[in-house]
Order: sequence, then C-alpha cells, then structure tokens
Amino acid sequence: MKIIKVNNAEEGGAIAFTLLKEAMTSGAKTLGLATGSSPVTFYQRLVSSSLDFSDMVSINLDEYVGLGPEHEQSYHHFMANHLFHHKIFKASYLPDGLAADSQEAALAYDQIIAEHPIDFQILGIGRNGHIGFNEPGTPFTIGTHVVDLAPSTIEANARFFESSEDVPRQAISMGIASIMSAETIVLMAYGAEKAEAIYQTVHGEVTEAVPASILQRHNHVILVLDEAAASLL
Ligand code: GLP
Repeated sequence: MKIIKVNNAEEGGAIAFTLLKEAMTSGAKTLGLATGSSPVTFYQRLVSSSLDFSDMVSINLDEYVGLGPEHEQSYHHFMANHLFHHKIFKASYLPDGLAADSQEAALAYDQIIAEHPIDFQILGIGRNGHIGFNEPGTPFTIGTHVVDLAPSTIEANARFFESSEDVPRQAISMGIASIMSAETIVLMAYGAEKAEAIYQTVHGEVTEAVPASILQRHNHVILVLDEAAASLL
C-alpha cells in the first residue's frame, strides 16, 4: 500500500484528482465511485476541471434500501449534486434502492460490473473499517448484496438525517470482490475517528472483521490520509 499524507481534505482531493488524470491518460474508462464526506473535495476538483467524462462509465458502490433518487440523503441524490449535474458521463450506475426484488437488483448490478471492469476505484472508509457498505463480517468473496447496517454506521450516518430513526436500516452494496477487482484503488480518510480503522487496514490482520484489511492483498492501493487519520500508523 502506498500512503500519501496530506494537510487537509482539499489537498487530498487534489491528489486523488491527479491520480485519476494519470489513470485516464493510461486508458481508464470505468470509474468506481463512492459517497460520504471524504470524496467531496475530489468531486469538486473533477467538476472544476476541464476533463471530459462523456466517454466514461461510472459505477457507484452502494445505495440505501428504501430511498429513491428524489430523497435528499439517497446516494443517487448525492452523486447528482456533486458530480452528475455538472459532468456528463456515457453511463452512470448506482444500485437501485427501490427495487421490488433487491436480490434480483444485486445480480443485475454484478452483471453491470462484469461488463465494465473498474479501472479506478474511489473509496472512503467507515469507522469500523467498512468499505462501500460491506460491514464487518462480510465474506470477502461476496458479490453485490443487501446489508443490514451496523449500529455504529447508523449512528455515524445519523448526522445526515433528522434523527437516527430516519437512517435506513439496510443498504445494497457492491461486494468486496468487485472492489478488489479494480485496477487502482484510492482510499481517502480524514479525521481522528478514522485512525483506528486505518491502523487496522494497514497493519492489522487481514480479516473479514475489518473489511478494508483485504486491501493489503491488492497490488495498487493508494491511501490518501490527513495527519489525524494517519496518527496511529
Ligand atoms: C458510508 C458509505 C461509505 C463511506 C463511509 C464513510 O457509510 N457507505 O462508502 O466510506 O460512509 O463516510 P465519510 O467519508 O462521510 O466518513
């Protein structure tokens, strides 16, 4: 794993943007995208750049079950706001949080990923080491699936909702195997509340109890961290 330390999220977004440009110069066509606060500065860079994405495909990691694109806290809404309203992509995929049959939607999503191998994957990380919405205990081999969110994730994400009761209890997430199949992975983490998860990711045992620890087995992962997130390394 390569670690790049930055002073703040603005610098981190700029670094991730530079890495993306390099990947695009080398022919990257499919971007794996993430939500959360960590990639926001990266999206700001994309939006203010002159880069053309009209020949590129994006595939997002996850979506809350039960939230449609109109819901302000849906990841569809987040992506529209931060990126898709500003930049045109050839196609952009997110899991369908409103699918009548979530299992069927999960299989369909795996088919999309199979048709568009991910060249460049953006990741944040949960305080418990989750990536996408792959919570601790998720098998490393699993495909897209419906997840029961961990209590700590519901609590962490409650800041975006009126109360923690309003946070959806389930999500549909791309699996860890799909994340690992990406050519390049850039994980951004900022703040002291991520320090333990980052420590376990870099130095801990590779275990399903810390989903991000699997990244130790990937040969092109770059962690972009501020001092606080890197403080236990
Ligand atoms: C959510 C998302 C993850 C994200 C995590 C951390 O649970 N599903 O993809 O990495 O939150 O979010 P933040 O960057 O806001 O700390």
